[in-house]
Amino acid sequence: MIEVVTELSALRGRVAQWRRAGKRVAFVPTMGNLHAGHFSLIELARSHADHVVASVFVNPTQFGPNEDFSRYPRTPDADAAGLEAAGCDLLWLPSVEVMYPYGVEATVHVAVPGVTATLEGAHRPGHFDGVATVVARLFNQVQPDVAVFGCKDYQQLAVIQYLVGDLAFPIEIVAAETRREADGLAMSSRNQYLSAEERPVAVEISRSLQAMREAVRGGQPREQVEADAVARLQGAGFVVDYAVVRDPQLALPVDRHGPRVALVAARLGRTRLIDNLEFEA
Ligand code: PAJ
Repeated sequence: MIEVVTELSALRGRVAQWRRAGKRVAFVPTMGNLHAGHFSLIELARSHADHVVASVFVNPTQFGPNEDFSRYPRTPDADAAGLEAAGCDLLWLPSVEVMYPYGVEATVHVAVPGVTATLEGAHRPGHFDGVATVVARLFNQVQPDVAVFGCKDYQQLAVIQYLVGDLAFPIEIVAAETRREADGLAMSSRNQYLSAEERPVAVEISRSLQAMREAVRGGQPREQVEADAVARLQGAGFVVDYAVVRDPQLALPVDRHGPRVALVAARLGRTRLIDNLEFEA
């Protein structure tokens, strides 16, 4: 049976007990409404540790004023059942009061410079500070040996690696590959916002990423590749925030060859979707 814990003292007690027994603890933070992508992180976590802790917390500090915090899907019973089936030992389910004991407005903030200035950071001001703030708290609450994050949120992973390196968290960060639907759409809790008409169109994001990869490999200039991807997505009905090719550090690539990542963020109706594709050029 999965153990569901809402009090910090109970979480600390259980993890301390495992540590005293010499066990390794892995951690998978989430915002719930879990799907097969999240469960693949639990399975990867299992392969790195003896015990797996997952958290479900819809973090108010990482949502902008006009974003979907209040309508973000909350499915606690299904999440607990799915986590248990995936082999998770403990579900950490803090309230907003437990996470932010001095209040959301009065919280100690973790601000990550550099990588947060571009792409998602530029389009969602304050988002990554909210992510870093809650993940730092979660790491201190759970105190895992290893934590698993998905490449689906490519820039988030970069932010977490910076956070852990700069604040010297003694935690190994493991990256998990993106799980996709049969047609290639990256799994996301936000996919369920898509209407029946929008759902088949959404696959254009992953198709555009593949087209960007092929165009770069075919020797097309980066600016052309990016402009073509924007035009293609707009033609399919998206409002495009960005469609870019970057090097793995999310800087502009200077060499023609080497590792690359193509990243897209685009809105279809009320739904904002992100995806990315790593490749060798
Ligand atoms: P959430 O969007 O719930 O995602 C939790 C974790 O699942 C993240 O590491 C994310 O990259 C990963 N994930 C999401 N979709 C995936 C997919 N299709 N395949 C593989 N992994 C996938 O990311 C967050 O929550 C929050 O920002 C959080 C880190 C919990 C801080 O609040």
